[in-house]
Amino acid sequence: MKIKSICCIGAGYVGGPTMAVIAKNNPHLKITIVDINQARIDAWNDVDVSKLPIYEPGLADIVKETRGKNLFFSTDIDAAIDEAEMIFISVNTPTKTYGKGKGMAADLKYIELCARNIANVAKTDKIVVEKSTLPVRTAEAIKSILHNTGNNINFHILSNPEFLAEGTAIEDLLNPDRVLIGGECEEAIEALANIYSSWVADDRILRTNLWSSELSKLTANAFLAQRISSINSISELCELTGANVNEVAKAIGMDSRIGSKFLKASVGFGGSCFQKDILNLVYIARSYGLTEVADYWEQVIIMNDHQKRRFSDRLIKTLYNTVSGKKIALLGWAFKKDTNDTRESAAIYVADHLLNEQANISVFDPKVPHTKVQTDLNYLNTRSEAENESGAISVDSAYEAANDAHAIAIMTEWDEFKTYDWKTIYSKMKKPAFIFDGRNILDKSEMENIGFDYYSIGQ
Ligand code: NAD
Ligand code: UGA
Repeated sequence: MKIKSICCIGAGYVGGPTMAVIAKNNPHLKITIVDINQARIDAWNDVDVSKLPIYEPGLADIVKETRGKNLFFSTDIDAAIDEAEMIFISVNTPTKTYGKGKGMAADLKYIELCARNIANVAKTDKIVVEKSTLPVRTAEAIKSILHNTGNNINFHILSNPEFLAEGTAIEDLLNPDRVLIGGECEEAIEALANIYSSWVADDRILRTNLWSSELSKLTANAFLAQRISSINSISELCELTGANVNEVAKAIGMDSRIGSKFLKASVGFGGSCFQKDILNLVYIARSYGLTEVADYWEQVIIMNDHQKRRFSDRLIKTLYNTVSGKKIALLGWAFKKDTNDTRESAAIYVADHLLNEQANISVFDPKVPHTKVQTDLNYLNTRSEAENESGAISVDSAYEAANDAHAIAIMTEWDEFKTYDWKTIYSKMKKPAFIFDGRNILDKSEMENIGFDYYSIGQ
């Protein structure tokens, strides 16, 4: 079966870039990305591609090349479902904030709404692809909704989890380590494999059963996050023993059985998925009665929370046990470099802790809009919006943030931070001038030569 028309429900960090890359490599395919969020769709359609809702290196060029030719953005969800032979579900699956499983389980209400929408609208057979990250056995629920429409339409469900990382989404999509397709119907699996095979070698396209595919996605994220928590746990030991975590990471990473990637000690991992997916894994394990399995993975999150807290505690302790009324500059608000995404960013939690201690926070991030700092802090519900507004501001440059500051905390590893004139920054700050480098991106001896009191992670 050769697919000619695709619909993707969800124009977010995954739906947008993924479909743009599929469109670029399959000019014969018509792809419509739909979303309930009108503002988001308008931004995707903006003639000025610098206004796209997502910042990803390389994305704007691909959108410019494909938009209006074989890639379309719309809020007319029903029309796009009706027209498509294959429908990707790429909506958000956040941690539940209410009811059973609150704070742990994935909230599947958006997935279910999509399935019901497809069931209501479809008049012809469809292949439905789970692109969102889902708990193992979700396809069962989707199948049950789709197969009970009573209208004699055949639906095939595939699981095709996405492994892209933000900041490198386009590169990851163009050169994936693997593409994973889980399913029960060989013809449907091959129809999807055929789309990827226009740019991905066939030996990198894995075919599995539905449940292995769903579970592999949660497992991959759990393993990746586990490496970060593992090295972060060692960073604390390094700080007390004189070992250097960068040296330890290099030494262990050169063992080919361990590998060198994902061993960068940091202020803690952020992003929309690691925490949510591990909590979901823990919840699933507990719901099967697997206490040891659940406890094992939960420790990855406990360690990450500890690392974020430890960073702000150390800053406060070093600043003579009080930051009350002191200006602290946070450089970086995004959860990693090269993205404007701030979901679960460590910066939010560090700022929240410092605000509890009555610090005055000044934030600079090269890609995050000023208003986002307030919305992220307000979302935590720790204090009133007015208090957040008076305690934290977002400014236009690192130099402005550092002006009269007692300390700088580096929260994101933006490349431009390494190129700053740190002597000028030093001259603008209160003395002693402290740097807390939550990403280990600056050179310790260079900073100390300028006059800074420099603290980093695990050194
Ligand atoms: P996102 O929040 O950026 O985008 C989801 C979009 O879906 C939103 O624009 C929302 O308005 C839309 N939506 C929700 N319900 C809808 C409905 N019923 N009809 C139409 N549109 C609807 O989320 P994201 O970061 O793109 O993540 C999507 C999924 O992909 C999640 O399951 C996530 O775990 C997974 N994932 C994310 C990444 C990542 O790097 N962000 C990577 C791999 C997998
Ligand atoms: C992660 C995975 O890497 C993707 O494969 C997956 O598709 C995605 O989650 C998802 O499911 O959403 P992402 O969260 O976008 O991608 O970015 P990562 O590069 O994994 O970084 C996550 C966090 O870990 C960031 O805060 C980053 O700074 C931190 N990190 C990463 C470290 O602290 N140390 C490292 O060595 C690597």
